[in-house]
Amino acid sequence: MKIATIVGARPQFIKAAPVSRELRKHHQEIIIHTGQHYDYNMSAVFFEEMDIPRPDYNLGVGSGNHGWQTGRMLEGVEEVLLKESPDLVLVYGDTNSTLAGALAASKMHIPVAHVEAGLRSYNKRMPEEQNRVLTDHISSLLFCPTETAVQNLHREGITTGVYLVGDVMYDALVYNLAIAREKSDILERLQMFPGEYVLATVHRAENTDDLANLQNIVEALTRIDSPVVFPLHPRTKARLIEADLLNFLEVNDCVLLIPPVSYLDMLVLVSNAEVVLTDSGGVQKEAYILGVPCITLREETEWVETVAAGWNILTGTRPEKILSAIMRMRSTDLPERKPVFGDGQASMKIISILSRNFE
Ligand code: UD1
Ligand code: UDP
Repeated sequence: MKIATIVGARPQFIKAAPVSRELRKHHQEIIIHTGQHYDYNMSAVFFEEMDIPRPDYNLGVGSGNHGWQTGRMLEGVEEVLLKESPDLVLVYGDTNSTLAGALAASKMHIPVAHVEAGLRSYNKRMPEEQNRVLTDHISSLLFCPTETAVQNLHREGITTGVYLVGDVMYDALVYNLAIAREKSDILERLQMFPGEYVLATVHRAENTDDLANLQNIVEALTRIDSPVVFPLHPRTKARLIEADLLNFLEVNDCVLLIPPVSYLDMLVLVSNAEVVLTDSGGVQKEAYILGVPCITLREETEWVETVAAGWNILTGTRPEKILSAIMRMRSTDLPERKPVFGDGQASMKIISILSRNFE
């Protein structure tokens, strides 16, 4: 079978890595990179470090407004699909690359398989929520990471082609953690000690493009009483410069601003943090899996299991709430974690289901 994999943004390279490794044992894969992310440390570093095969096509779409960006991807993906005639298109997550890939395929009557299907925040203002709902409704195979995701789909009337396989990010983590511990020297480079720093990541539109939220987050970060390691997403860096807030962070001795880091460095940074502050989906899961308390700078999350388990607190962006959540995490004995993200075999399950469905 010939499968076209569509990726474009940082988390999709990480998710595709274990699936692609398994896929190529049984089928032919062509990788289409939309070019949504393009800086070395947002794209190429993951292909190199995680041994992801070089994309067969890079559409080079780049950054822009949603309609423009999604439209250019749609056009570019369609052209490649016309040329390659794959039997199936594989998309990941909830970015504009996901929606464009799924829509291009669906209009050409090529079956779509969606990895990380069924996630919902129930906040329709999020571009990701729009992308994932639309993608789920035009997919033939829906690979869910959690039981909650399966139930979300059922509530929307999607019951066929739905499979609970676990989370491919867990597969990636299991495969790479020992490698990261051996190869990454990020703690030495940053002169940080295990358990003695807070790790922060921020990139959601609702936080970066809303000045009050961005100011709140900056204020909270500068009031934390431990060093804060803050790998800056390019979107956040651009907004901080526009809002004249970057200098303020740069002169603060406790906040260590660094460029986005590689996946192996990130695994070491997450696993050794005292607490993680984030609005990232992937980082919330990684913190849970690695047993690091997480504070999510949003009002809702798709990863509700981590909150129910007591390992993740939703604070939004108000500094007082963030600071008191840090204190709460420090003073609470957290319960044992259940394995809510599967068994690290999601990629294998996905490929065996794909093979069965298209024999
Ligand atoms: C995108 C996804 C988001 C995902 C995130 C992962 C959508 C709508 N959003 O958000 O769901 O969580 O990726 O990181 O698809 N930029 C660069 N260099 C790059 C990439 C981006 O400078 O390599 C800057 C540009 O100024 C760009 C901005 O970041 O305008 C935003 O990039 P974009 O891909 O549109 O959205 P993300 O915020 O990265
Ligand atoms: N990540 C990384 N380097 C960084 C920040 C994040 O490798 O500097 C990884 C992180 O460990 C996780 C993924 O990128 O695996 C999450 O991507 P992101 O936060 O950009 O997007 P989201 O998961 O919110 O869609």
